[in-house]
Amino acid sequence: MIINGLCADYGSRYCPCILAETGGCVVCSQVNGKDFCDCKASGGICVKEELLRNGGKARPGRETYACEVTTVMHGEGLVFLRVQVPPMLESEVKRPGGFVFVRRQDASSWYDVPISVQYEEMNVGTIGMTILLRGVKTLPFREIAAGDTLLVRGPYMNGLLGLQQLEMQQAGRCLVLAKGIGLLPSVSVARYLQSRRNEVAVCVDEGGFPASIQKFCLDLFELSYEPLTLLDAEGRLSVEVRRRIERFATDGGELIHVGASEYVIRLVADYLASIGRLDVRLSACNNARMCCGEGVCGACTEVTADKRVIHHCKEQVNVRKI
Ligand SMILES: Cc1cc2nc3c(=O)[nH]c(=O)nc-3n(C[C@H](O)[C@H](O)[C@H](O)COP(=O)(O)OP(=O)(O)OC[C@H]3O[C@@H](n4cnc5c(N)ncnc54)[C@H](O)[C@@H]3O)c2cc1C
Ligand code: FES
Repeated sequence: MIINGLCADYGSRYCPCILAETGGCVVCSQVNGKDFCDCKASGGICVKEELLRNGGKARPGRETYACEVTTVMHGEGLVFLRVQVPPMLESEVKRPGGFVFVRRQDASSWYDVPISVQYEEMNVGTIGMTILLRGVKTLPFREIAAGDTLLVRGPYMNGLLGLQQLEMQQAGRCLVLAKGIGLLPSVSVARYLQSRRNEVAVCVDEGGFPASIQKFCLDLFELSYEPLTLLDAEGRLSVEVRRRIERFATDGGELIHVGASEYVIRLVADYLASIGRLDVRLSACNNARMCCGEGVCGACTEVTADKRVIHHCKEQVNVRKI
């Protein structure tokens, strides 16, 4: 997994993207109209040079592939799909934080929905995804059947924050705290960490979501979990989770992944700071603000303390600063 914290697309086959062409690149100061280079990119690829080489134009964006649905499993309020995808898309998107936009080919669905990619094995020609049937974008998947065609656009990489922290984590102890939709991308995180010889404990807050959804997701990926309530009635981190985090850190735990709302992510980061455990690495899901995934719609933008406009869909933001 190669992660560039400056931009999820930097140096990929989608770079330079439309942002470079229009002077809004998140990496290169020169394509944004400045005379000097203050680029911190360490990948050895100059965005300006790539743009010039491409005639001043962005590289073609992500393709949409018409893919056959090979497996459909219905659970209470959800559907799990396995979808046949081209080998290139499979190899690029099967990693923590990988996601695709999906739409049914027939007229019942007209809006592309971002969905996290779940996987057990590489190079099998398919990707997995669990869609919670909730509202306007996801309910059209209720009646999907094996053999149907799904339009899949991807790969997108920035579905998690703290990707570098995950990449660094090897042969240690990790804790995954998940709630609601945040459980879905966290499944791949747990599996990824296990594949790197880490001991992974998964704690799931069962509140709000039918228990069958959690059981379905975790059984499918053979992950055992402890139920753990993340927030108390006043909206603070519960006593149980504070104890769990403290015990984890004292016992040499190295990384906590939080698959929950930004509010919970912030509480966990603040709690670690309050007990003086800034050494514990943090990663988290990045789905609260994302919409287009391309740095274009502005849904995920934020102005930082140093007056920089950042795009959560493109950049890796320090989990401790969200
Ligand atoms: C990078 C990324 C990965 C995602 N992965 C998955 C996935 O694997 N499976 C999946 O089912 N959905 C996933 N989502 C969310 C999905 O794209 C839809 O936004 C969501 O399913 C609701 O869409 P809707 O129109 O059906 O419901 P809406 O009518 O928009 O919402 C119905 C309910 O769901 C809540 N909700 C909507 N979006 C989110 C969100 N992002 N996080 C938490 N609660 C939310 C709303 O507050 C509301 O209560 C992901 C989103 C992103 C950005
Ligand atoms: S999601 Fe549209 S700009 Fe980031």
